[in-house]
Amino acid sequence: MQYKSSTPTRFLYIHWPFCPYRCYFCPFVALAGQDNLMGVYDQALKKEIVKFAKEQENKLLIDTIHFGGGTPSTYPNDLLLDTFDILRNMFEIDDHAEIAIEVNPGTVDKEKLQVWQSVGINRLSIGVQSLKDQVLQKLNRHQTTQQVFDVLHTSAEVGFENVSVDLILGLPEVTPDEWKELINKVVTWPIKHVSIYCLEVHENTALYFKIKTNQVNLPQDEESMALYRWTCEFLDKYGFKQYELSNFAIPGYESRHNQAYWDRVPYKGFGIGACSFDGKRRFCNEKDIKKYLTAMQEGASCIDSCEELDERQAVLEHVMLNLRRPRGVLIRDIIDGMWRNKSNDGYKIIQQLEEQHFVERCAKQHIRLTSKGLVVENEVVAQLCRVAL
Ligand SMILES: C[S@@+](CC[C@H](N)C(=O)[O-])C[C@H]1O[C@@H](n2cnc3c(N)ncnc32)[C@H](O)[C@@H]1O
Ligand code: SF4
Repeated sequence: MQYKSSTPTRFLYIHWPFCPYRCYFCPFVALAGQDNLMGVYDQALKKEIVKFAKEQENKLLIDTIHFGGGTPSTYPNDLLLDTFDILRNMFEIDDHAEIAIEVNPGTVDKEKLQVWQSVGINRLSIGVQSLKDQVLQKLNRHQTTQQVFDVLHTSAEVGFENVSVDLILGLPEVTPDEWKELINKVVTWPIKHVSIYCLEVHENTALYFKIKTNQVNLPQDEESMALYRWTCEFLDKYGFKQYELSNFAIPGYESRHNQAYWDRVPYKGFGIGACSFDGKRRFCNEKDIKKYLTAMQEGASCIDSCEELDERQAVLEHVMLNLRRPRGVLIRDIIDGMWRNKSNDGYKIIQQLEEQHFVERCAKQHIRLTSKGLVVENEVVAQLCRVAL
C-alpha cells in the first residue's frame, strides 16, 4: 500500500509525540517521560520525509506544514533546524506557506521562538485550555497562568502575529463565571484565532476512569451548551468570526491546515500515528514508537492501516466535515449520495431535523448544525446518512 495522490499534495503534517506530562483527558498519540527517544525518533522522521519526497515524480509545492503533537514545542532547536534544511531541500515551500507549530506554555523561551521564526514558522497554536491552575494540575497538566502570559508576551515581542489559542470548555470545577472571565481576557490578548473544544471523554484515558469512579464530576451538557452559545456571540462581537463549530478567527487568519483537511484534499502526515489522505484512501502510521522506529531503520513502510473509501463513505465524510462549517452541506449532495431512489425519505428526514432545530438552512440549499445539533452531532449525521451509530 503506497500513498499516491490524485492531485499534488500541498499539505504536510509532522507529528512530534513527546510531552512534558500526560494530561488525563488527552486521547492523542503522546509520550511523557520518554524524551530519551527524541534523537532516534527525529532520525526516523527525517528518513520518512526524505523517502516520501524521493518517491514523488516532481518536487512538491507545499502550502502548509503543521507540526502537531504531542508537544512539538519540545523539539530541540538543533534537530528542528536540521529538519527544516531537509524540508527546504526536498520540497518547494511556497513563499506564503502557513508553517504552524503547537505550543505548550512552559516549554518555550525567547531563543526558541527566534529559531522558529528564522526557519519560517509563522503560526503558533498555544494550548491554554484554562487559566485555573489547580484544575489543570488535577488533570495532570502542569502549566501555570504565568507561563501562558509569558509565552503570549514573548511571542508578540519576537514578532509572531498569527497566534491562536486552544481552550477546553466543560472542564471540571470551572464555573460559568470563571469561563466568561477567561473569554473576556482572551479577546484582549495579541492573538488572531481561538479554538474552543468541548471536553470529550475518551475511553482509555485517565479522565474516563476518574469519572467512572466518581472522582471527577463534569458540568451538565446544558450548562456547557449555553456557555458555548454565549462564547460564539461574544467572540463575534470582538471580531473573531466562526468558520467552523470549534474555530474562530479574525478574517484572513483562518487555519489553512484545518481547511485543507475539511476540504478533503490530499495531505501527507509523518511520524507515529500520523494520518494521510491521497484523495481516495486514508492511511494511518504505526502508533507504537518501537515498531515505527524499527520500520524506519529497516527502510520498511511505517503505514499501519489503509482504508479505501467507497462513494458512500466519501459522502459521509464530506457531510460530517461540512455540517460543522458555516457554509454547510449542499442538500443535493446528501440526497444524491445517500438517498438514491428514496429521495423523498431523505428530504423528510432533513425537514424533521430542521423542525427539531438540530440543523438549519444557511447558504442557498445548504444545511448546517445548530448549537443544539452539535450536542448530538453523531446522531444527526447518522440520520442524514442512514448509518448505524
Ligand atoms: C494535539 S492537542 C495538544 C497540543 C498541545 N500538546 C497542548 O496540549 O496544548 C490539540 C488540542 O486538543 C485539545 N484537546 C485535547 N484533549 C481534548 C479532549 N479530551 N477534549 C477536547 N479537546 C481536547 C486541546 O485544546 C489541545 O490544545
Ligand atoms: S493535551 Fe497536549 S500536552 Fe497534554 S498529553 Fe495531550 S498532547 Fe500532550
